[in-house]
Amino acid sequence: MANTYQDELRARFGFDVDLGGEVPDDSWLRRVLLRRTQRRYSDQKVPDALVRLLLAAAFSASSKSDYQQASAVWLRDRARRDRVAALFPDMPWIGAAPVFLVFLGDARRLERLGELGGHRQDNGALEGFFNATVDGALALQNCLMAAETVGLGTCPISVLRNRIAEVAEILELPDKVFPVAGLCLGYPAQQGFISMRLPMEATVHVDRYDDSGLPEAVDGYDRARDARHSIKDRQRDPARFGTAEFYGWSEDKARQAATPEGVGFATWLKAHGFTLDEPNDRSR
Ligand SMILES: Cc1cc2nc3c(=O)[nH]c(=O)nc-3n(C[C@H](O)[C@H](O)[C@H](O)COP(=O)(O)O)c2cc1C
Repeated sequence: MANTYQDELRARFGFDVDLGGEVPDDSWLRRVLLRRTQRRYSDQKVPDALVRLLLAAAFSASSKSDYQQASAVWLRDRARRDRVAALFPDMPWIGAAPVFLVFLGDARRLERLGELGGHRQDNGALEGFFNATVDGALALQNCLMAAETVGLGTCPISVLRNRIAEVAEILELPDKVFPVAGLCLGYPAQQGFISMRLPMEATVHVDRYDDSGLPEAVDGYDRARDARHSIKDRQRDPARFGTAEFYGWSEDKARQAATPEGVGFATWLKAHGFTLDEPNDRSR
């Protein structure tokens, strides 16, 4: 039986994917396969009621131990938004998007529950940070998918963490609450494009981890991506890295990753309640 997602899978991976059998045909799943980030938005207003619905979808995400350690700031005040946007002039969509949300990891609330119940616990170990981060990320992704489902465009914004002290001050974040990522929302001004993904041979391992085929998989991916959308004329920092004869995704990402990002985040977390150590069961 021919599978029913060939167009979507080809759009996502750049080649035919054999699912190996019959699968349910679902229109939402097609949208998931075709999803894309949008950074340009039309002037069409996003009604507040819709934002609230999307936030309800966000907080419907699963949550580690039902601890519910995600929070969000809906940044409505223009002056505060402008202050955040001014920190990132390279990303004008932060200020221009009709709606801007910030998804937070919130390790504070669980501590407060402990205090209210008379069992004070410290939630600042790596475990607390990690769980709150995952909850925040899941809420973000639920919001993003819900938004795309109703025709909105979205763009997560993790650069907020590059200016963590200023962002935390503008949003008045207390200790043990930190931004996972912002989220721009608006009706898209253009169609956008589907960003191809690595073949599942490189990302899905069966029974045991084995990345011995990575070089071939990445080379094939680089070339397929280049054939669709070449970045050869946008080589990063040739003064430092030279000019590559073939410049594909993997070279671009290796160059990008050679410049550290998020410098200061760990220091800020440690100054704001996180030890990032092993947990212990001693009361504070
Ligand atoms: C956690 C996270 C943080 C991101 N941060 C930014 C950001 O700060 N600025 C930006 O323009 N895009 C950001 N993005 C969007 C990614 O660049 C985008 O998802 C990626 O290029 C893949 O494209 P696609 O979502 O269209 O498939 C972020 C995405 C994620 C998941």
